[in-house]
Amino acid sequence: MKCQFVTFVILSSFCFSLYNCTGSTDNTASSADSGISASNPYAGFPSQVEWGKHLVIIAGCGDCHTPKKMTDKGPVEDTNLALSGHPSQAPVAALTPDQLAKGMAATYDLTAWNGPWGTSYAANLTPDSTGLGAWSENQFITCIREGLYKGIQGARPLMPPMPINNFSKMTDNELKAIFAFLKTVKPVHNVVPEYQPPAGAGK
Ligand code: HEC
Repeated sequence: MKCQFVTFVILSSFCFSLYNCTGSTDNTASSADSGISASNPYAGFPSQVEWGKHLVIIAGCGDCHTPKKMTDKGPVEDTNLALSGHPSQAPVAALTPDQLAKGMAATYDLTAWNGPWGTSYAANLTPDSTGLGAWSENQFITCIREGLYKGIQGARPLMPPMPINNFSKMTDNELKAIFAFLKTVKPVHNVVPEYQPPAGAGK
């Protein structure tokens, strides 16, 4: 049977960059949108959804949130499963504590990550009920702006490698455009596994 996944260990330099991405508490995102006006509400794009699509592409949401197919050119995004998160039944990289001390691991499709923070799984961002189907726009903005699971006050913080420290700087209009686009993608039913803290961590 063909190997379903490979794992790799990314050493400390990438690890540091992730901590830099998530470690800051400076979430003072600007609500100013340069160039946005009544006559140009979508940054030059014909609609809010088109602008959101552009932002999702350039921000690389699919790099982690879209499962991949292995091809002779390497992994490519599985467009049938676009933005549907870590597939519920897919295996996860398992590392020994010694290996984890040297870095972290991810499945080849980058939807599941294992590091000193535990195991995190890229969420289902499609409008299915197992994704963002029941989310409000405000919930989405709070989630990204404050790095809170499901955008609920008091919920746990989102874990690496979700680049919260970068995306929290998006403006309200950018986040609204992204949310509007995500509401238009094909709904995919996929219950993403729950985040697991590191083995041995206190509750
Ligand atoms: C480098 C990988 C990576 C990239 C790029 C990325 N994400 Fe994530 N994202 C994750 C992981 C992993 C999680 C799960 C974190 C957790 O459970 O703590 C996550 C969680 C989320 C959540 C929280 C879902 C919930 O149930 O609370 C949302 C919303 C989200 N991502 C949206 C986005 C959007 C929108 C983009 C692009 C603008 C994006 N992500 C780019 C890895 C990534």
